[in-house]
Amino acid sequence: MGSFKTVRGMRDFLPEEAKIMKYIEDKARKTAELYGYKEIITPVVESYELLAAKAGEEVRARMYAFKDLGGRKVALRPEFTASVARLVATTLRNEPKPLRLFCVGSLYRYDEPQKGRFREFWQSNFELMGSDKPEADAEILLLTNRFMKSVGLKNYAFKIGHVGVLRNILSHEGVEEETQNRVMQLMDKKLYEEALKIVGDSGASEKCIETLQKLVNLKGENTAKVLEEMADIVRGYAAATDAVKNLGEIINFVEEPDEKLSITIDAGFARGLEYYTGIIFEVYVPELEIALAGGGRYNKLVELFGGEPTPAVGVAHGIDRIMLALQEQKTSLKAGGEKTVMVIPVNESLNSEALRISEMLRAEGIPVETEVMGRKVSKALEDADRRGINHVIIVGEKELKDEAVVLRNMRKKQQSTVKIEKLAEKISQDSL
Ligand code: HAM
Repeated sequence: MGSFKTVRGMRDFLPEEAKIMKYIEDKARKTAELYGYKEIITPVVESYELLAAKAGEEVRARMYAFKDLGGRKVALRPEFTASVARLVATTLRNEPKPLRLFCVGSLYRYDEPQKGRFREFWQSNFELMGSDKPEADAEILLLTNRFMKSVGLKNYAFKIGHVGVLRNILSHEGVEEETQNRVMQLMDKKLYEEALKIVGDSGASEKCIETLQKLVNLKGENTAKVLEEMADIVRGYAAATDAVKNLGEIINFVEEPDEKLSITIDAGFARGLEYYTGIIFEVYVPELEIALAGGGRYNKLVELFGGEPTPAVGVAHGIDRIMLALQEQKTSLKAGGEKTVMVIPVNESLNSEALRISEMLRAEGIPVETEVMGRKVSKALEDADRRGINHVIIVGEKELKDEAVVLRNMRKKQQSTVKIEKLAEKISQDSL
């Protein structure tokens, strides 16, 4: 057989990268704990119909969809939100609200591979089900902020908009949902001219086009000023006016805490996923042009899947892109000074003793690698040094007679004879 490569768009994560991915995942899990989100695990394969329902044209066209051997039309999940909404519409239907659910795992989209865009990628995903209050939207923004901070990201900023403003204007003008979806897709890609042309062709008024044009041009970091201008622009559209008010309330909540979020309001901001009904947002860092996270409010999805009317808001953080951003920012991770230990028997007759000591230390929670290559002590020591092992335990006959071994601190290049029963204590206390 020839030599194999990974399939295009798929990657291997070698230990260093896998460690960073797991580090970010751990921080996401910690964030979930801090905010009371319970972890659930949903399947990678779901019914195509479920995943496609509101994914939007862009994501729908890139789904890994196929018939399984039973003839079912299925797909690899391109996101978590549809799966979580399915659960809340069915199995969790009678759970008291609010429901706070967290998941983490791999997603699949047949995107064109490029920097930060992969066909298999990872998200940590938070959904808050059952509240339509602005404090729920604020919670999703705040937990995203805390998570980004906890992984060590710097200079990240939120781009925030509100699809309720845009869709309510279009609905007021009688523009059908299908057409609205096309308009949102184009606006998501910043193809504003084409988007406005479709609005015009659908019979919307001059005033509507003008209003949308003004919104598209309106963005800024002075949130109070932008909100005021937005309200001014949409005057006469009652539901859109309410949406601007809602955006203001949410922003108010997140601007109050001591750690103020860095926010740009972008009044013409749209996202490709079709289920959004309210606030939408993304997170960016100056080093990358692509979003590190995205989310928003979607009040109709659970009902669409046959559940009770359930207002909801959520976010997904792109773990791969956060890793990329940390690398771009040259952030060194505080991955914790693990005290790795290597146990080396001086000859083969001491192998079982070396294994016994290794197991004893592992039982105390100390990570241990046992020498399994049958190398001489000097060779094994060289290898331990090369791989940054902190402590080496050399198991020799002479010391064993006294129930002891030699413990070597590799950084300090110091060694002493230590009783086996005192080993775990000594290693834990020893500074590196
Ligand atoms: P999304 O914006 O499609 O939203 O994806 C969220 C994040 O996943 C993106 O900001 C990005 O970091 C990461 N991501 C997406 N596609 C790729 C890719 N091809 N390669 C690498 N990373 C990628 C959602 O998925 C919604 N379900 C978020 C949400 C949850 N809305 C409400 N609740």
